[in-house]
Amino acid sequence: MYDVEQFEAWALDYERDAARWEAEGGYPFGGRTQMMGLVKELAHLETGAKVLDLGCGPGILLGELADAGCEVYGVDSARQMLALAEKRVPSAHLNLADLRDELPSEWGSGYRAIISTYAIHHIDDADKVALIRRLLGLLEPGGAVLIGDVAFQSAADRDAARAAAGDSWDDDEIYCVADELAAELPGVRFHAVTPWSGVVEIRA
Ligand SMILES: C[S@@+](CC[C@H](N)C(=O)[O-])C[C@H]1O[C@@H](n2cnc3c(N)ncnc32)[C@H](O)[C@@H]1O
Repeated sequence: MYDVEQFEAWALDYERDAARWEAEGGYPFGGRTQMMGLVKELAHLETGAKVLDLGCGPGILLGELADAGCEVYGVDSARQMLALAEKRVPSAHLNLADLRDELPSEWGSGYRAIISTYAIHHIDDADKVALIRRLLGLLEPGGAVLIGDVAFQSAADRDAARAAAGDSWDDDEIYCVADELAAELPGVRFHAVTPWSGVVEIRA
């Protein structure tokens, strides 16, 4: 269950902790840099492309995308996270909201990519499907929804990763299983990065 207070308290330490856990390897953050790189690659970005990051946290990807010339938008419900994102990326359009909420109407549509890294696992599966359906309508032609996270092709892969992770597995988090999303949505592909993570790509 998503607890915004937990993220408010974690904001200042999040980047350091994520980097440390990535360096330690394994579930959940091992492969994080590679996974984020794949999200950017699959987004096919170019100068001026409009990109939205759902659960943007302190704006790590927003900063890289803005540096690459993209017009960046971010949503997060943790005020402290957004404050860090605003400081890092002054040009970003930011909204304090639940990522399932409607976007500000002045943001319009026409996104080249709508991305989300290590955030959507706080949303249950039915809400994920409803959210992704809505997001697909906000993309420009050829655009993609890209979810980089602890994620799996199949339920069997997820169960194997859970067994390997043992006590470190977080039972409160609901990870994407591409086969299950594909039963509800068109255009779903999964790109594995590690045995416990990857990028779910959904194109309209
Ligand atoms: C683990 S951090 C990841 C931050 C960033 N995406 C990254 O990869 O560095 C998860 C972020 O998602 C946000 N988040 C999770 N569930 C959310 C929700 N339902 N609505 C808005 N933000 C949410 C949290 O507040 C937090 O900032």
